[in-house]
Amino acid sequence: MHLGWFATTGFGVYGWEDPWAGNVASDLGRPGLFVDLATSLERAGFDYLMLEDSSVLPDVYRGTFESSVRRGTHVRFDPVPLVPLLANATQHLGIVATVATTFYPPFLAARLFATLDHLSGGRVGLNLVTASADGAAQNYGLTKHVEHDRRYEMADEWITVCKELWSSWDRDALTLEPGGAFADHERIHTIDHVGEHYSSRGPLNLPPGPQGRPVICQAGASPAGRAFGARHADTIIAAQTGVDAMRAYREDISRRLLENGRKPEDAKVLYLVNPILGDTDDDAFRKRDRLRQVQSGHVDRVLAALSYFTSMDFSQFDVDAPLPDLSGNNGHQGTVADMVRTGKTLREIATTHKATESIELCGSVETVADRMEEVMAEVGGDGFLIAAPVTRKNVTEITDGLAPALRRRGVLRHRYEHATFRDNLLST
Ligand SMILES: Cc1cc2nc3c(=O)[nH]c(=O)nc-3n(C[C@H](O)[C@H](O)[C@H](O)COP(=O)(O)O)c2cc1C
Repeated sequence: MHLGWFATTGFGVYGWEDPWAGNVASDLGRPGLFVDLATSLERAGFDYLMLEDSSVLPDVYRGTFESSVRRGTHVRFDPVPLVPLLANATQHLGIVATVATTFYPPFLAARLFATLDHLSGGRVGLNLVTASADGAAQNYGLTKHVEHDRRYEMADEWITVCKELWSSWDRDALTLEPGGAFADHERIHTIDHVGEHYSSRGPLNLPPGPQGRPVICQAGASPAGRAFGARHADTIIAAQTGVDAMRAYREDISRRLLENGRKPEDAKVLYLVNPILGDTDDDAFRKRDRLRQVQSGHVDRVLAALSYFTSMDFSQFDVDAPLPDLSGNNGHQGTVADMVRTGKTLREIATTHKATESIELCGSVETVADRMEEVMAEVGGDGFLIAAPVTRKNVTEITDGLAPALRRRGVLRHRYEHATFRDNLLST
């Protein structure tokens, strides 16, 4: 089983005024919490830490920044400068930073991540997103965001340019012969890419990193998002609810991989979960009931999140009426399609919806480890992406409680067998 950790609000703020997150103010913008997270994940045998990102402080919900900053939810430091600090504190863990293809010039990203691949000793990855908020697009000079499927079309060309740049030096171009040349100039090539959206001459002005090209991670669940993932991703992260949907998703991705001349095992599919752990099953159930009660008092938080995902102000809708017409949504189409399918009202969705749960995991570490093993066998997927808020208590529960229970069952690695992130990820 492969495990990743999804830092759901990136290099940001977790759990302001929640119990067990008492050091938010002193951790703010500092690497310590994330270094603690990364070293714990490595001790536990995780494949990677994925850092979410966005470039906007949203004011879509009710037309103010209040819901964005009340709990610090939309504060984001840039995750990329954090990557070498985390790499420096670890030896094996993969570190994935999110990059919005719509806003980064491909040459800049290709060079930056090739550099990070060197700095990390072959352990860096990019989570490729097209970004969804109009506000983010406006920060980069657009009047509104590019249309959903066209964003993926652009992303496809974007990553193609990056891949060409990462291959612009042959693997044996660096000769480093004493008394000879540093590199063989005949094994370095321009790429001369002139496409519909991007042009780049190349080559990169640095040799390829240990992985050749960094690991590519992808999350979009719409048909265009899945097609993109099947063409380019080494790992796909998915929020599909229930074992049947999870299995269908894996089968769909496997089919798409084959259509692209790839093998199903070329991309590891990890499903989002947010385990609720207790010393006993009863402890965990009581904790779950408490958390549900808290959630039911915060319909606003979910409506604000949906407003961000869709760039539509959800405060304008009657929360007890059937769902409004959301067909104009140009944001997270997979998420909205899932909501519409439930047939629930907004209030029902807001009080029960869990964007970070493919299956409910609740109980002692032994109960939860059993369930994870069972579900993976049923789904034929590759593992889970833990999406618990980054507090040191949550990190300890998962890495010192749940992970050892999985290891005792022989389903989680005891040690890293390979030198690079991709080789560890793609090993069985
Ligand atoms: C697990 C997960 C992580 C994601 N991380 C990010 C992120 O860091 N930044 C971002 O802009 N979008 C993020 N997204 C959104 C997706 O990249 C994508 O834009 C969204 O799911 C809509 O895609 P779709 O319309 O193809 O479903 C994430 C989605 C999921 C399910």
